[in-house]
Amino acid sequence: MIFPYALIALAASVAYAQGPTASGWDDTQILNYALNLTDLQNAFYSQSLSKFDTQSFNSSGYGPFVRTGFVQIGQNKASQAALLGSILGANATASCTYNFSQVSNTADFTEGSQIVENIGESN
Ligand SMILES: *[C@@H]1O[C@H](CO)[C@@H](O)[C@H](O)[C@H]1NC(C)=O
Ligand SMILES: *[C@@H]1O[C@H](CO)[C@@H](O)[C@H](O)[C@H]1NC(C)=O
Ligand SMILES: *[C@@H]1O[C@H](CO)[C@@H](O)[C@H](O)[C@H]1NC(C)=O
Ligand SMILES: *[C@@H]1O[C@H](CO)[C@@H](O)[C@H](O)[C@H]1NC(C)=O
Repeated sequence: MIFPYALIALAASVAYAQGPTASGWDDTQILNYALNLTDLQNAFYSQSLSKFDTQSFNSSGYGPFVRTGFVQIGQNKASQAALLGSILGANATASCTYNFSQVSNTADFTEGSQIVENIGESN
């Protein structure tokens, strides 16, 4: 399975260009980094899940609870993004537009979900 290069490149740029370093980051920068990452994850789940319905998951051999689980993860990302935005208030940086149109099937999606989750854990 070859995952779309663009998403891997994007993940790498978030992880390496934006990751908080040991020093020199204030609270606002750290929260904005978290917001940026959460925006990316939120876009990934909402765009992909609007494209792949229960039948798409079933056709790829996934049981009925797989999509439901991803829907809950996506809702958590949306809540986290809203919370971070409300904490930051006027200090929130404008959110980027992420386009995950290259995620073309549920296998790409499940693989991509591991990539976007790992960005958050690697820092
Ligand atoms: C969010 O991350 C992307 C990808 O690295 C970067 O291009 C963008 O400048 C970041 N946006 C903010 C608001 O930090
Ligand atoms: C997919 O749907 C069919 C028809 O409802 C069902 O028999 C099958 O068990 C489903 N596959 C999975 C992996 O849940
Ligand atoms: C924005 O950041 C400044 C400096 O860190 C801080 O004094 C201010 O309270 C912040 N405003 C909000 C709405 O968080
Ligand atoms: C995402 O990119 C594709 C081409 O890669 C384009 O066709 C599509 O309109 C874009 N979607 C959005 C919401 O910008």
